Amino acid sequence: MADHRSRADTQATAAAERSQPADAGVPTHSAAPGVGQVLITVRGISKTYRLKGETVYALDDVSLDIYGGEYLSIMGPSGSGKSTLFNMIGALDRPSGGTVRIGELDLTRLTSRQLAHVRCQYIGYIFQAYNLIESVSALRNVALPRIFAGEPTSAAEEAAARSLGRVGLGDRVHHRPGELSGGQRQRVAIARALVNDPLVLLADEPTANLDFKTGGAIIDLLKQLSVDRGVTVITATHDHKMLANSDRIVWIKSGRIDQVQRREDLDIEEGSVDAD
Ligand SMILES: Nc1ncnc2c1ncn2[C@@H]1O[C@H](COP(=O)(O)OP(=O)(O)OP(=O)(O)O)[C@@H](O)[C@H]1O
Ligand SMILES: [Mg+2]
Repeated sequence: MADHRSRADTQATAAAERSQPADAGVPTHSAAPGVGQVLITVRGISKTYRLKGETVYALDDVSLDIYGGEYLSIMGPSGSGKSTLFNMIGALDRPSGGTVRIGELDLTRLTSRQLAHVRCQYIGYIFQAYNLIESVSALRNVALPRIFAGEPTSAAEEAAARSLGRVGLGDRVHHRPGELSGGQRQRVAIARALVNDPLVLLADEPTANLDFKTGGAIIDLLKQLSVDRGVTVITATHDHKMLANSDRIVWIKSGRIDQVQRREDLDIEEGSVDAD
């Protein structure tokens, strides 16, 4: 009996949390800020890890405004803090200090459940290693975020088929990841990131495993999303091919912002970039 009551209590708590306006203050997709208006505000964030008695400073006092619909690349050497910053912006991890806001919503004040809701509703992720499930089709891989969000499988798969069509894979929906090329797998990952119509698309090293031409096609696709659909695209990357497409480049060095450049201030010649 006591067990039943506690389960009911847990369910009631979960229902109450769901009914909370966990995302009050986040602009709706249709009213997302346009170019030139701030969507994400990062203020004084730090991230430290304790490792074998020593403190590792992965990020140190980073502040940044990210504008609606812009294509922002975070660049810097290995270990400089790109993925750490990316994880804070994407509600995947919490900073040790400072704040991250999407619209008026302060991500650093949310419960884990509320953060999961924000991730599900507003953010699409593309990871270097694709993170696809090998045993199911491209269609099911792309449908999963909607199925997890509670949508019936048939409706989720209809949306997944549309999303796969958008990245040019309409004829590969029943292939499993192992039956696709590297570029096609990355496009499945992009289709999955887009299936919930995110406000923000975060891509960590999206071209790292791809050849020059396929990587270029993926970059073009990301650029098209930011231009045509107003999606705010944020990439963490070593890939200098990203630079020519980026509206701004944030250079990170030893956990701090070294420089923020606008594309028009870059010295781009024949695809090469003078980063000094
Ligand atoms: N869980 C952890 N525990 C301890 N230190 C960590 C942890 N995660 C990251 N770090 C350290 O934080 C720093 C920043 O790591 P991060 O993964 O953000 O680098 P990065 O710029 O993404 O590098 P790469 O280009 O190699 O992906 C590194 O020095 C790393 O060793
Ligand atoms: Mg990284």
